[in-house]
Amino acid sequence: MTVSFKVQIRRHSFFTSCDCLILGVFDQPELTGIAADIDAMLGGKLTRLKASGDIDVNAGKTLWLHEVDGIDVARVLVVSLGKADEFNARRYKEVLRSTWRAVSCSRAVKVDCRLPLLSVRNLDLSERIRLAVVELRYESYRFVQMKSKLDLEQCVLESVVFDVDADDSGNAQTAVQHGLALANGMDFARDLGNLPGNVCTPSYLAQAATQLAKDWTMKAEVLGHEEIEALKMGSFLSVARASTEAPQLIVLQYEGGKTGAAPVVLIGKGITFDSGGISLKPGAGMDEMKYDMCGAAAVLGTLRAIAEIRLPLNVVAIVPACENMPGGNANKPGDIVTSMKGLTIEVLNTDAEGRLILCDALTYAERFKPAAVIDVATLTGACVIALGDHHSGLYAKDEALAAELLQASSQSSDAAWRLPLDDEYQEQLKSNFADVANIGGRKAGSVTAACFLSRFAEEYPWAHLDIAGTAWTEGASKGATGRPVPLLTRFLENRAGMHCV
Ligand code: BES
Ligand code: MN
Ligand code: ZN
Repeated sequence: MTVSFKVQIRRHSFFTSCDCLILGVFDQPELTGIAADIDAMLGGKLTRLKASGDIDVNAGKTLWLHEVDGIDVARVLVVSLGKADEFNARRYKEVLRSTWRAVSCSRAVKVDCRLPLLSVRNLDLSERIRLAVVELRYESYRFVQMKSKLDLEQCVLESVVFDVDADDSGNAQTAVQHGLALANGMDFARDLGNLPGNVCTPSYLAQAATQLAKDWTMKAEVLGHEEIEALKMGSFLSVARASTEAPQLIVLQYEGGKTGAAPVVLIGKGITFDSGGISLKPGAGMDEMKYDMCGAAAVLGTLRAIAEIRLPLNVVAIVPACENMPGGNANKPGDIVTSMKGLTIEVLNTDAEGRLILCDALTYAERFKPAAVIDVATLTGACVIALGDHHSGLYAKDEALAAELLQASSQSSDAAWRLPLDDEYQEQLKSNFADVANIGGRKAGSVTAACFLSRFAEEYPWAHLDIAGTAWTEGASKGATGRPVPLLTRFLENRAGMHCV
């Protein structure tokens, strides 16, 4: 579905050419803002519906009013906002999601949405508009590429209008554009994530990245097996070896900043299927390991977003891509491999493969003399145990970089939680036979994975995002989320000194 957006300058009249007006109502005695204005026009109808309980007090509940006398709109969607003093960014996002769900299964064609006019703690108008755009696109996303017949479910929505004061219209327009760019980046990441492992292979990822670079004037370089071997990426290659799919090292360069200015490097884990290798995973839920390239997808999606925004910053994406498969020539527990950095690694569990491909990408990143390096990876089940599917795990020794990422996280409503990276945990990676082991035992599995990576990231400010819990959702609504594209995009925008505000 494509939705066009318009930002309309407020005319202090509700007779826009829409067929659906959306407004929010707080759980408090008095109606305020637009809800109060409309209530007056409707002869106190909203007040009565609140009193009767038809307008629910709980945030996110919706009530349709059809053919109401008093205003010239076919339908009004009343959205409950909960308590005014609890209305924060998280609430606002929840409210937007249920609003757009209600709209997308309605007959509304032209929507006039007043929700961004609500004040939300720590979100200015631009951010509220941007989030509204992103959440609408999030809710209307469908992955239908692999269906032979399209489902009949049809959304008739054509356009959404946000009504703002004349003074705000420029900023609001930019916010819409940036919201659309971000949504496009998220969709790009979601599509790659949702594609099955037999389609989204390492070479498919490489092609998608090359096409992305063509479409958005970036440099693209794809290194194949021989070149990876020439770089002495013994750790990366050891993971790729048992697959019939050739490994690919994908490097994109977006040059929006000053020539020669140090870039931010984003590294994305690109395991297009993680069977576990010889340390084979159990069967249940193994299909979800097609999502093990969501770090790669997020990094590429972020480049898609910043290119559309024309962000004035240099950014490099590095994606080591391969499959982790069992086979006669696969890594075996106990094998020792030599990384590009020269450190030897004892592979005690072949299912801890993400760090084995990322460590060589981290070493490769040094050649760009980066201002900062952020790797993004569906790295550990332990992170899902620790944080569930709400927060991505954030690791960084560099306090300033950690603070920047946490700020971007809250600004973009893309939650992340910092976890420790203290040296004490490094002890768990001791190997009797090599420089380092690739697993650190049962305790603090997400932390020891980050500790492993930290050994290869000493040459620049570095942070690691473990997105194992946040990159996709399970169950009936199984699907890629496009996270943490919002966080990364916002981080880069802040770095570029470009603010939506
Ligand atoms: N891709 C997985 C991590 C993962 C598991 C993400 C489940 C999301 C859901 C990773 O390669 C892996 O298998 N990690 C192992 C590490 C262990 C062997 C130390 C894990 O988490 O079990
Ligand atoms: Mn694994
Ligand atoms: Zn994996």
